[in-house]
Amino acid sequence: MVSTAHSARALFRSHFGSLPVHVVVAPGRVEILGNHTDYNGGLVLAAPIDRSLAMAVSPRQDGRVEIVSDRYVGAVSFLADDATHDPGSTWTGYVKGVLACLGRRGIPPRGFNAAVAADLPAGAGLSSSAALTMATLLAFRQMFPFSLQSGVAAPKQDRNGRVPPPSATERLEFARLCQQAEREFAGVNCGLLDPLTILSGREGCALELDFLHLTVTPVPLPPEAVLMLAPTGVQHSLADSAYNELRAACEEAAGVLGVGVLRKADMGRLDAAKARLSPRAAAVAEHVIAENVRVARATRALQEGASDEFGQLLFQSHASSRDLLGNSCPELDAMVELAQMDSRCLGARLTGGGFGGATLHLVKAKEAIGYKLWLAEKFYERTGRTTEPFICRAVAGVG
Ligand code: GLA
Repeated sequence: MVSTAHSARALFRSHFGSLPVHVVVAPGRVEILGNHTDYNGGLVLAAPIDRSLAMAVSPRQDGRVEIVSDRYVGAVSFLADDATHDPGSTWTGYVKGVLACLGRRGIPPRGFNAAVAADLPAGAGLSSSAALTMATLLAFRQMFPFSLQSGVAAPKQDRNGRVPPPSATERLEFARLCQQAEREFAGVNCGLLDPLTILSGREGCALELDFLHLTVTPVPLPPEAVLMLAPTGVQHSLADSAYNELRAACEEAAGVLGVGVLRKADMGRLDAAKARLSPRAAAVAEHVIAENVRVARATRALQEGASDEFGQLLFQSHASSRDLLGNSCPELDAMVELAQMDSRCLGARLTGGGFGGATLHLVKAKEAIGYKLWLAEKFYERTGRTTEPFICRAVAGVG
């Protein structure tokens, strides 16, 4: 397979007629367990994957940004300090968002040429948008080095014109900035999961992310199993507003329970407050509290090599998202029901925001190809829809 870095470089060359000065590759991420827990100060197991978005860039002097992508026809050009929404090219809003957020942190917008290439399916819950914001931020940093930490000087470029990777503290700042850009420019009140995972991965490992203490702990994934993603092809047109509604229900519950974030609540506290909660707030709170416990148990199961138990926790998570969060859909449910019928699959669940997107399957490595073909066939029989499941590897983060 041609790498996205290679494709981005080739696209840059054919569009701009010169070679790019830098290429940054930002992986997508898979949420392995922990649905809608991140913005509740909770726990998530996630990993960057070997599907990515690459951005090839060169600075320019006239203060304009010109950007071309292998996914959309025609280049888009705007002034680097233009933060207006362009309904004709919503994807460049992520780039503008990063520049605007940097501007607010005292880093002036600058012009550059960029070519973007990706092999991440968009809308599959694999974080193609966070890959775009992070690639923009890191590419900008390569061209125009800056520091987001007060009192810390901008990093210096080495002999090859490259700057060193950001420190752990700075990574957190970068993740926050990308989160902010997505909130403001895409209108999704998302958490820190996507940008932080993309920056922090370790080859072959899941990351246990703790959003209360802001810690990231790598946990090796079982060598005898693979992660398989199966896109449903379903994209809920109101997914963004549904996401925001779900988050608001969690915040309402936290308010009534008298905890800053739901991570600090337990089932006892929830039961005691149920009469004062709307049914929706009670349901989402029940999910979040139980999901945090599942992630902690899953981390232990991984450490103990208990893959079967780990898989069962994935199935339980799906049932909870479906029944309590209400962010599944018939196609996601159909895939998980199929997975439950086949012993080659140890566990499966919806992954990411939900309301469509993809399912994640933990599959016995030796049987993965057979399972993949079977799943695609059965899914078609059940829903009349095609899916092309693919195996993904947990890779190192971009930072
Ligand atoms: C999306 C968001 C994340 C997280 C997940 C759900 O991917 O961007 O912040 O909330 O949904 O777990």
